[in-house]
Amino acid sequence: MEKTRVLITGASGQIGQALVQALVDEFGERNVLATDLKPSEAFSHFEELDILETNHYQKLVGGFKPTIIYHLAGILSAVGEKNPSVLWKVNVQGWINTLNIALENKVSKVFFPSSIAVFGPGSSLDYTRQNVALHPTTVYGISKVAGENLAQYFFRKFGLDVRGIRYPGIISYQSPPGGGTTDYAVDIFYQALDSGRYECFLSGDVRLPMMYIDDAVRGTLELMQANAESLSVRTSYNFGAVSFTPTELATSIRKIIPDFEISYAPDFREEIANTWPRNIDDTPARRDWNWQHQFEIDDIVRDMLMKLKEKNTLRSKKN
Ligand code: NAD
Ligand code: SER
Repeated sequence: MEKTRVLITGASGQIGQALVQALVDEFGERNVLATDLKPSEAFSHFEELDILETNHYQKLVGGFKPTIIYHLAGILSAVGEKNPSVLWKVNVQGWINTLNIALENKVSKVFFPSSIAVFGPGSSLDYTRQNVALHPTTVYGISKVAGENLAQYFFRKFGLDVRGIRYPGIISYQSPPGGGTTDYAVDIFYQALDSGRYECFLSGDVRLPMMYIDDAVRGTLELMQANAESLSVRTSYNFGAVSFTPTELATSIRKIIPDFEISYAPDFREEIANTWPRNIDDTPARRDWNWQHQFEIDDIVRDMLMKLKEKNTLRSKKN
């Protein structure tokens, strides 16, 4: 059987840092090549790569000969609204580059990270189902709809085994998030530990689907290991876990930090959040590859606060 060799683009980002660690644990350091525009101290097997520089990208893939590419390079929703043309180049042209290079180099499987941002007005935002109208209001969401359709096109037309997930807001401790609308649910933990208070850029009652990084990484690996025949979705799977509002998250944090205070100063991100699902119906993922989340809101809060405290202790010991 062919040995698994994995290349990750955008590896220094929020999801990449955690995914690379899990892949290294499974396949060994030399079989996992992390790439990104910016280096990260976390990786010893790393190459700088701009996914828009096709010659360099070709050479890297031709040399390393990955069997799987996890394509995580991208620009997130809130940052994208400030520079739509750059987002389009990175999220759409960068993805087309990955698909073409994967095809030319006979890469066996490719992963695409879509988002709840593909939904919008007309999607029905409560327990949003897999196949609904997709009319996103952000350039980020539009780029993800295009990306999903390109994934399905390369699968149907060329037989490239592309698999995708519509991630909800991801909550993680490994690295800070990259400028998304759901990022309040990460920032809040840093501020809860630093100052005991947080000013939230969404109103208290804005409900969004969220997921802990451990669930997200495990689910991603499970999708990529599933039998191709059992997969009925080749755009990207709805992928659900928990769903909460900023007020509910603050209530959960208060179970551990009783004096924690939250205030609200909604900005442009509130308008984006209001067009996204409040919760997700992920029946096809649960049926096709047996997806099950493990972390509920209180589990996430407990683990986040514990992991960030450990990081702080390590940092102060180093200094
Ligand atoms: P992130 O912003 O933390 O990381 C993205 C990485 O891509 C960064 O390290 C950045 O340097 C890199 N990058 C940007 N332009 C690049 C280029 N031209 N060439 C190479 N690398 C480049 O994002 P993330 O949260 O880790 O998200 C990874 C993917 O998952 C993205 O496509 C994102 O849209 C998607 N996603 C994330 C979330 C979430 O909540 N984190 C939710 C839904 C979807
Ligand atoms: N967490 C991401 C964002 O807010 C959703 O794709 O941009």
